[in-house]
Amino acid sequence: MTLVPGTVRPRRLRTTPALRRLVSETRLDPADLILPMFVKETLSEPAPLNSMPGVVQHTLDSLLEAANEAVDSGVGGLMLFGIPEHKDNEGSQANDPEGILNRALTLLRDNLGDTTVIMADLCLDEFTSHGHCGVLDSEGGVDNDATLERYAAMAVAQAKAGAHVVGLSGMMDGQVGACREALDLEGFTDVVVMAYSAKYASAFFGPFREAVDSELQGDRKTYQQDPANGREAMRELDLDLAEGADIVMVKPGLPYLDVLAEVACESPVPVWAYQVSGEYAMIEFAAAAGAIERERAIDESLIAFKRAGADAILTYWATEVAQRLNSDTPGGAH
Ligand code: PBG
Repeated sequence: MTLVPGTVRPRRLRTTPALRRLVSETRLDPADLILPMFVKETLSEPAPLNSMPGVVQHTLDSLLEAANEAVDSGVGGLMLFGIPEHKDNEGSQANDPEGILNRALTLLRDNLGDTTVIMADLCLDEFTSHGHCGVLDSEGGVDNDATLERYAAMAVAQAKAGAHVVGLSGMMDGQVGACREALDLEGFTDVVVMAYSAKYASAFFGPFREAVDSELQGDRKTYQQDPANGREAMRELDLDLAEGADIVMVKPGLPYLDVLAEVACESPVPVWAYQVSGEYAMIEFAAAAGAIERERAIDESLIAFKRAGADAILTYWATEVAQRLNSDTPGGAH
């Protein structure tokens, strides 16, 4: 049989909204979206962030309110970051049961129970006076193995406070194994370890530094990955899996979709991606300047994560998008 020119017409499947909907390869569901939230000890009112229009640092009260709204919208879960009043060299508030992050976890778990998945960032940078993700050695470098002991204590404190999932974002070698062992020893065998397996030393974390009042001078290049390296991400993945990671993550998102796609092909456990603060800011500021259509750009960026293989996405737009997905009518313009 010869192919008559013109008989193969991919456009045929794009003719109506209903047909496009039917042949769509990838869908977004509210349950795919995880909302990162910031809670700050010293506040009496929520504080808007200049570098992330629409995102605030919460008080405990406003955190609970926003968490309820997110859960009502059907998001898959919540990821908490805490900003303590007192930071020190060891980040001691991180594993203090009275530390702001642990108090916030308890508040949410007491109020929300198991109706959603409550997660906490497990890293020291929000808690240290020097802003690094670990404790420092005598030369001022980040001491990997001393940091593991801090992470292990933090994992147990977060589990006690009510976290269903601990999110290991510090990029220390051995962090998954150290936290898993500490959790198991304390009987928290059901607490899930989510590992930021491939996390890059990225400029796209810029606005996050304001969000957590970061004290960091310098950079994180001795522990986070070089943006030039893709193969190295697979090594990090293998190690995290061997140490018992239940879920793995790639971060940032859009600039690393190639890494995400490869991790998604190889990983036997769920793969998440983090649409980070700088990605959020780029779309918000470009839309505010009239350069792009805000909602279309948000939706397109999120579907790109799914297309690349992400099972879930951390995004500061989680509640908004979940609400919109709920109100979308079948056969509509999407
Ligand atoms: C580390 C952490 C960071 C982010 C999440 N966890 C900052 C960093 O590694 O410098 C960034 C998230 C974002 O930019 O939205 N605790």
